[in-house]
Amino acid sequence: MKVLVTGGAGFIGSHIVEQLLEEGYQVVVVDNFSTGKKSFLPRNISIYKVDIQSTELEQIFKEEKPEIVIHTAAQIDVNSSIKDPQNDASINILGTINLLNCCSKYKVQKIVYSSSCAVYGVTEDCSILESFPINPLSFYGISKSVAELYMNVYHSLYNLNYTILRYANIYGPRQSVTGEGGVISIFCKKILKKESPIIYGNGEQTRDFVFVKDVAEANIKAITKGEQEIINIGCNKKTSIKELFELLSSLNSTLHNAPPPIKNPTRQGDILHSRLDNTKAKTILKWEPNYSLKEGLEETINYYQNEFPL
Ligand SMILES: NC(=O)c1ccc[n+]([C@@H]2O[C@H](COP(=O)([O-])OP(=O)(O)OC[C@H]3O[C@@H](n4cnc5c(N)ncnc54)[C@H](O)[C@@H]3O)[C@@H](O)[C@H]2O)c1
Repeated sequence: MKVLVTGGAGFIGSHIVEQLLEEGYQVVVVDNFSTGKKSFLPRNISIYKVDIQSTELEQIFKEEKPEIVIHTAAQIDVNSSIKDPQNDASINILGTINLLNCCSKYKVQKIVYSSSCAVYGVTEDCSILESFPINPLSFYGISKSVAELYMNVYHSLYNLNYTILRYANIYGPRQSVTGEGGVISIFCKKILKKESPIIYGNGEQTRDFVFVKDVAEANIKAITKGEQEIINIGCNKKTSIKELFELLSSLNSTLHNAPPPIKNPTRQGDILHSRLDNTKAKTILKWEPNYSLKEGLEETINYYQNEFPL
C-alpha cells in the first residue's frame, strides 16, 4: 500500500515515514523543506520538494497514485501565526484545501490529519475530551480547526474518508530547537550548552507530553481504524514546566549542573493547562502510549547529546 506523507521531512513526519517503512508500506514524501531536513529521511523513497499550496501537487498524485495520505505539513508556530495570520492560514487552510482536492480527484482511500490540542483553548486544569467546545486562543488554533471542518465536508460531499488526530505536546529526537520547537528540545539544547533556559510565566503551566514514536504509531493505526473520528493523542498526564526542568536536570549526569532558568512574561496565545483524555484513542485506535516521560526524555537527551556534544 502506498502512503503519501506531507511534511515527511519534519519532526513528526520523519518518524511516521520510518515506522511506515518498517511495516512494509511504500512511502512518498512531499515537503517544501521550510523546517524539514533531507537528512531525516532514508534515500530509498520518493521525495518531492513541493509546497502543498502549489499547483505542482496534482502532478504528484497523478504519477504516484497514493492510496493513503498522512498530512503533517503545516506552519506550526503559535507566535508566527499571531504575527502573520495570513501566512498561517495560507499554509494550514489553503494548502490543506489544495491537498483535499487532490485526494478527492485521485480517489485517495483516506487522509489522516495532524491536528492539535490548540483547537480547544481550554485553560482550566482538566482532562480535555474531544467533545469539548472549539475555542482557539491563537490563529494557529483557528487554522488547525478550520482544516478539520474541511475534512468533514469533503467526506460528506466526495466520500473522502478521514481520521483527525489532535495531538498533545509532542517531544523527541529531531524536534527543532529554535523558537518554534518544543519546550523539551529547547531546554535540552540550552542545558547541554550550559545556557539558561527561559520559562514563560511562573512555570506552573502544565502540559501533556507524548513521545514522538508513540504519535507515529497512532498515525499508522489510523490508516485502518477510526473512520470519520476526531481522536486525542496524548498521555492524559500533566507535568508543569518547572517539574519538567527539574526532571531533565536530574536524569542525566551531564545535565546535573544546569544553569537556573530565566523567567520571562507569559506569551500571547499560550494555553495555561493542557491535558488530553485518551479513552477514544484506546478504544477506537487500540493505541496507548508505550513510553513513560522518563523513558522518552532519556532517548531525547541521548539524541541531543550527539547533536550538541560538550
Ligand atoms: N510538535 C507538536 O508538539 C505538535 C502538536 C500538535 C500538532 N502538531 C502538528 O503536527 C504536524 C507536524 O508538526 P512538527 O512538529 O513535525 O513540525 P515540523 O515543522 O517539524 O514539520 C512540518 C513539516 O512540514 C513541512 N512544511 C511546512 N510547510 C509546508 C508547505 N507549505 N508545503 C510542504 N511542506 C511544508 C516542513 O518543511 C516540515 O518538514 C503539524 O501539522 C502540526 O500542526 C504538532
